[in-house]
Amino acid sequence: MDIKEVLRFADDLVLAKTGKHLDRLQEAVLLASWQSQRYSQLAKEFHCTERHVGNMASKLWQTLSKILDKNVTKSNFRSTMERYQVSHNSNFLNSNFLEQGNINFCTEISHPPNAQQKSPPEQTSTEGDTEQKQRLDLRDAPTLRTFYDRTSSPLTTLETWIVEQNCRLLTITGISGIGKSAIARNLIPQIQTQFDRIIWRSLRTSPPLETTLKNLIQFLSNQNPPLPRGGEGGVFPANTDAQLSILIETLRENRCLIILDDVQQILSSGQLAGHYKPEKNYGTLFKLIGEIPHNSCLILNSWEPPSDILTFTDDNSAVCLLQLTGLGEAATEILREKGLLDEEYWPELIELYQGNPLWLKLVAQTINNLFSGRVSQYLSYQPVFLGDELTPILQQHYQRLSEIEKQAIALISNETEPVSFTLLMSKCQGSQVELFKAIQSLDRRGIIAKLSCESETVFTIPPVLKQYVQMIL
Ligand SMILES: Nc1ncnc2c1ncn2[C@@H]1O[C@H](COP(=O)(O)OP(=O)(O)OP(=O)(O)O)[C@@H](O)[C@H]1O
Ligand SMILES: [Mg+2]
Repeated sequence: MDIKEVLRFADDLVLAKTGKHLDRLQEAVLLASWQSQRYSQLAKEFHCTERHVGNMASKLWQTLSKILDKNVTKSNFRSTMERYQVSHNSNFLNSNFLEQGNINFCTEISHPPNAQQKSPPEQTSTEGDTEQKQRLDLRDAPTLRTFYDRTSSPLTTLETWIVEQNCRLLTITGISGIGKSAIARNLIPQIQTQFDRIIWRSLRTSPPLETTLKNLIQFLSNQNPPLPRGGEGGVFPANTDAQLSILIETLRENRCLIILDDVQQILSSGQLAGHYKPEKNYGTLFKLIGEIPHNSCLILNSWEPPSDILTFTDDNSAVCLLQLTGLGEAATEILREKGLLDEEYWPELIELYQGNPLWLKLVAQTINNLFSGRVSQYLSYQPVFLGDELTPILQQHYQRLSEIEKQAIALISNETEPVSFTLLMSKCQGSQVELFKAIQSLDRRGIIAKLSCESETVFTIPPVLKQYVQMIL
C-alpha cells in the first residue's frame, strides 16, 4: 500500500462515515503522519496555527478510530494501515466502504469493517435474515478521486431529484472531460443507502441492447443464470420484449440504481444529436424506465441527450436532465492542486478552457512543463494551445457533427464577434428549418453558447473548440 492508496482508502472510509471527502489539511495530516513529519511544518504550509492543525487532526483520529474500531493516532497511523493491509486486505476490498474495480460484491449496510471480517459477506446470516442486503457492481466505474462541487452544487441537485423526487430516468450530458462520470461516481456514496442494488456499466464498446439487458438482469435479479420469468424451461428469453419485462419486474421488486456511462457510443455520428444507431435501439429501454412506475433509477451519462428523452422530460418529474457545464470558481482548486503560479491569472485560464476539469488538468501539465507553472507567461502566447491529448478528444466531438452543424461552427469560428441567426442563414447552405435544427443540436451537445445581444440572441463557440475548428479548416 503506498501513500496514494492509503489516502484514497482513508478518504473512502471517511466519506462513507461522514458523507464528506477529506479536505486538503486532513490529507496533509495523514501524509505528515505517514512520513513522521511535524504538525508545525503543516501549520506553516497552511498559514494557520499549530493548535488548529492539532485540533483538526485530533477530530480526524477520532473519526478513523470509530470507523476502524481501534485507537488510531498520529504515531500509530502508518503501522495500523500496514497491519490492516496485511491481515484484512480482502475484507477491506469487499467491504461496503470500498468499491474496487473487478469486484462484484454483496454487503450489509452499516457494519464496520471488523464486523465484515467475521463471515464472508454473501453468507452472513442475520437475525431472521431481515437485514437489508446491498449489492454493488462498480467494476466499470472510475475510482473516487478528489471532487470539487460547483457553486450551484449539481451534486445536491442530483441527490434531491433521486431521493426526494424519485426520479426514474436521469440523463447527465456534457462535453468530454466536464465531469459526468466523476459526478455520478461521487453521487453513489451520498445515495447508496437508498438502494438495494447498484450497478455501473459503460457502453463504450457500443454493446447490443440484449447484451446490456442480460448483464443488468443477471446482476440485479441475483441469478446466474438469470431466472427465466417470461422465458421457457430455464433458458434466458431471446425475445427483447420478454427481457425488458424481466428487467422492469426486477426494478419493481428491488430498489436498483443503474448507471450507464458513455451512452453517446450507442448514438449515431454524422447526424443531428441524439439519434440511436439503427442496430442499437436502446430507446425502448429508456422509455419504459422513464414511464412505467417503479422505485428504481437509471442514470445515463452522455455527450448528448438521446433525442426521444427530451420528449418525455417535460411535465414529468420522474425524468430529469442535467446539462453539466464548467466548474467555474471551483476549478481554482484544480490549479492549486497542480501547483500553478500567478493566481490572479487563473480566472482567465479557467474561462479559456471553459472550466473543464480534464482540459484544465492537461493545460496545467503543459504550463508546469514549459513555464514552470507561470500562468501569465502561458497566457501571453496566442492562440490557445491544444496539445496531443486534447486534439483527439476534440476531433471525436467534431466527427460526430452533421454536415450543416460543421458548416455552422466553421462560420462561427471565423468570426471575431458572436454571430446572429440571420448571418448564419445568409452564409450556410440549407433551409431555415435545417439550420434551426442544427443550432438546437449544437446546443444540446454543449458546443455553442447563446448570448443575448440587445434585442437578439447570438451564438459563439468556446475558444478551445474555435481553435480546433480553425486548425482543421
Ligand atoms: N468536480 C470535479 N472536481 C475535481 N476533478 C474533477 C471534477 N470533475 C471531473 N474531474 C476530473 O476531470 C477528469 C474528467 O472527468 P470525467 O472523466 O468525469 O469526465 P467525463 O465528462 O465523464 O468525460 P467523458 O465524456 O470523456 O467520459 C477526471 O480526471 C476527473 O477526476
Ligand atoms: Mg465519462
